[in-house]
Amino acid sequence: MLRRWKPGLPLLLLLGPLGPFSPGALAGPEQAEDVVELDFSTERPVHLVSPAFLSFTIDANLATDPRFLTFLGSPKLRTLARGLSPAYLRFGGTKTDFLIFDPQKEPTFEERSYWQSQVNQDICKSGSLPSDVEKKLQLEWPFQEQLLLREQHQKKFKNSTYSKSSVDMLYAFANCSGLDLIFGLNALLRTADLQWNSSNAQLLLDYCSSKNYNISWELGNEPNSFRKKAGIFIDGLQLGEDFVKLHKLLGKTTFKTSHLYGPDVGQPRGKTVKILRSFLKAGGEVIDSVTWHHYYLNGRIATKEDFLNPDVLDTFTSSVQKVFQVVEETRPHKKVWLGETSSAYGGGAPLLSNTFVAGFMWLDKLGLSARMGIEVVMRQVLFGAGNYHLVDENFEPLPDYWLSLLFKKLVGTSVFMASVKGPDRNKLRVYLHCTNVNQVGLTSFLATQPGKAAEISECSHPRNGSVRSNSFDRVFKQDHISRLL
Ligand SMILES: *[C@@H]1O[C@H](CO)[C@@H](O)[C@H](O)[C@H]1NC(C)=O
Ligand SMILES: *[C@@H]1O[C@H](CO)[C@@H](O)[C@H](O)[C@H]1NC(C)=O
Ligand SMILES: *[C@@H]1O[C@H](CO)[C@@H](O)[C@H](O)[C@H]1NC(C)=O
Ligand SMILES: *[C@@H]1O[C@H](CO)[C@@H](O)[C@H](O)[C@H]1NC(C)=O
Ligand SMILES: *[C@@H]1O[C@H](CO)[C@@H](O)[C@H](O)[C@H]1NC(C)=O
Repeated sequence: MLRRWKPGLPLLLLLGPLGPFSPGALAGPEQAEDVVELDFSTERPVHLVSPAFLSFTIDANLATDPRFLTFLGSPKLRTLARGLSPAYLRFGGTKTDFLIFDPQKEPTFEERSYWQSQVNQDICKSGSLPSDVEKKLQLEWPFQEQLLLREQHQKKFKNSTYSKSSVDMLYAFANCSGLDLIFGLNALLRTADLQWNSSNAQLLLDYCSSKNYNISWELGNEPNSFRKKAGIFIDGLQLGEDFVKLHKLLGKTTFKTSHLYGPDVGQPRGKTVKILRSFLKAGGEVIDSVTWHHYYLNGRIATKEDFLNPDVLDTFTSSVQKVFQVVEETRPHKKVWLGETSSAYGGGAPLLSNTFVAGFMWLDKLGLSARMGIEVVMRQVLFGAGNYHLVDENFEPLPDYWLSLLFKKLVGTSVFMASVKGPDRNKLRVYLHCTNVNQVGLTSFLATQPGKAAEISECSHPRNGSVRSNSFDRVFKQDHISRLL
């Protein structure tokens, strides 16, 4: 069958079934309600996503106390991050608008220890933080984490300054892990008439230029809640003008060709839609992608049932549609990115966002985003405070890290239509992509399999189809999937 269809090895991602479901049903006799029908078409991709489609963030709050930025020197963390390359590393979050660059500030003791331990000229091949310093920081981390989460919950943020050393630490992490750094600039530095005061950004740009750093930029984080966080209301028009100002500034530096993303608004509800629309009218021309943020749930009250509820997963769809509607009305064809996203806000849901159960939300968000035309999805966070991290404080990868790695290695950029028919269609969630042919490991593995080499060189055999499967378990069987396609 495989031979006859000569498929380009499309990849079906199957999720679920979600909701009440007993494992016994899999083995039991086929029941009428088990029958599913899959529709798919590989005639032409409905979308092409970025090779960095699956990307991730480091929350800017890690710089609140810059001693903890030295965690980014961990060779293990860098190796894990490199596994997910190519990807963007967005450094942003609420703290973005409370961080001030101070070129005169001295590095902390921990930062100095890190740099002093770098005997090798090649910073990427050098050693890690001295282990006694790392151990001490790890012991202190739970307290810092509590402090950061409390600040976030109470919405009372203090300004912090960061040094050249902090910038170097962050850049070295991105560069040595093969990631493209996106740095969020503070948008709350304002003049008396509420225009953006760019003087601090100018200092940072000058420093990064002098170091030949290649960085992309953002300006501000969730400006729709500036009033709540800082008692200042900035409308979309003003923010658009601020972006135009930043764009001009970049044009006068070595960052002429570097990218600018924004406005990193929260979910498209109420006044946020208004801010997004007027921002795009005033400043949409100077940005390379429109960024917005999405969380399904409030981490403080979310339950396991919420995490497994397909209706919760489906709430994402209407938010995506709303954002695309605004973008099409104001800046047609502008690329749309999820600039920050996870299962639950407020640092994630304890014992849920960092466990196996969060994987359904994560994979479904990736699947839906690609199918709806979002080009990049940035997962909050790779490493840091809260429960939604991919790698924990001991640098151990969590279930969502492994899912991300599998997704990165297996799933390609061409996205096709595939859907399940029937009454329970939202419980079995099906997404169809080409296999990722750029992953050397996978390609060479398949090349050693007779007859497989040709199949992976393209993903172009067009075919429409509809298949019936008598039960869920058959759909899950690899050979059955191959025969379907
Ligand atoms: C942070 O610093 C800026 C610039 O000095 C100032 O306008 C702002 O009020 C400060 N914010 C807080 C929360 O202290
Ligand atoms: C890292 O830096 C090296 C040397 O400056 C450069 O060639 C490479 O492109 C950089 N990589 C990234 C991901 O920025
Ligand atoms: C912008 O901020 C800098 C640093 O705080 C300050 O010296 C300068 O006067 C400000 N400019 C305006 C126009 O407010
Ligand atoms: C800088 O990074 C961007 C990706 O963000 C990349 O497209 C570009 O080629 C890089 N420029 C240089 C000079 O390395
Ligand atoms: C496949 O489906 C697409 C639209 O879904 C349609 O335009 C095309 O004609 C179909 N091709 C075949 C061979 O049925």
